[in-house]
Amino acid sequence: VKSINHIGIIMDGNGRWAQARRRPRTYGHIKGATVAKNIISYCAENKIKFLTLYAFSTENWLRPKNEVTFLMMLLKRHLQKEVRSLVKQNIRFTVIGNLEQLPDDVVEIIKQTEQATNRNTGLNLTFAVNYGSRQEITNAAKEIAKRVLQNDLKLEEIDESCFNSALQTYPFPSPDLIIRTSGEYRLSNFMLWQSAYSELFFSDVLWPDFTRYDLEDILSSYLTRERRFGKIETVRSESINTRN
Ligand code: IPE
Ligand code: IPE
Ligand code: MG
Repeated sequence: VKSINHIGIIMDGNGRWAQARRRPRTYGHIKGATVAKNIISYCAENKIKFLTLYAFSTENWLRPKNEVTFLMMLLKRHLQKEVRSLVKQNIRFTVIGNLEQLPDDVVEIIKQTEQATNRNTGLNLTFAVNYGSRQEITNAAKEIAKRVLQNDLKLEEIDESCFNSALQTYPFPSPDLIIRTSGEYRLSNFMLWQSAYSELFFSDVLWPDFTRYDLEDILSSYLTRERRFGKIETVRSESINTRN
């Protein structure tokens, strides 16, 4: 794979995958976690610098309590089990999203995993957990307003770069491509600011069936796309991968 800087993935379709097998939705989440693990390793092996996985949205609290509890437990168990392997793969793990509403034991494991991997220099792996881009953008606006009120920032100094640095994804670059599985064509509150010029890919494959070969197909298709960023000369994706 040529150097692709940042991939974002909306991992969708776990529930339908399980239901098609007459199993509880939670069974799909377990299989989905295994797929995530494989895709993470693929990205680490192939020198991708940033991978952001949408694991739980601010809207996912509206699901039945037992499913929410199960997802939290799964995240905790997954991180506990994988932390050593993350270190071995030189992966640096971080989380974006509102951690305040998460159960204490989950927050604890997240912090431990971030801490244990924070010297790693390979893949930057970000889990979006209790993440919602509208909330992220609202909080950024609030933060900036506060700095203006405190006279730490002048109104004229508010520009895109200032706003960008108030987002949770800062200082990571914007995703070059965003993939959504399961045949749904929407972003569901994922990286709304950051996706302004991302290439979007929608796959019909349900997340538990998604393989590194599906990812390779998408990546080779990405490399044929022309990213113009509003200009008229054509810029091949592979030659602009250093910009945000
Ligand atoms: C994605 O799969 C995982 C999460 C949102 C946590 P879903 O659970 O949304 O599966 P479907 O979309 O209902 O099939
Ligand atoms: C988006 O999937 C959130 C995650 C993948 C974590 P959803 O299944 O929650 O999205 P909608 O409800 O279909 O838009
Ligand atoms: Mg879904």
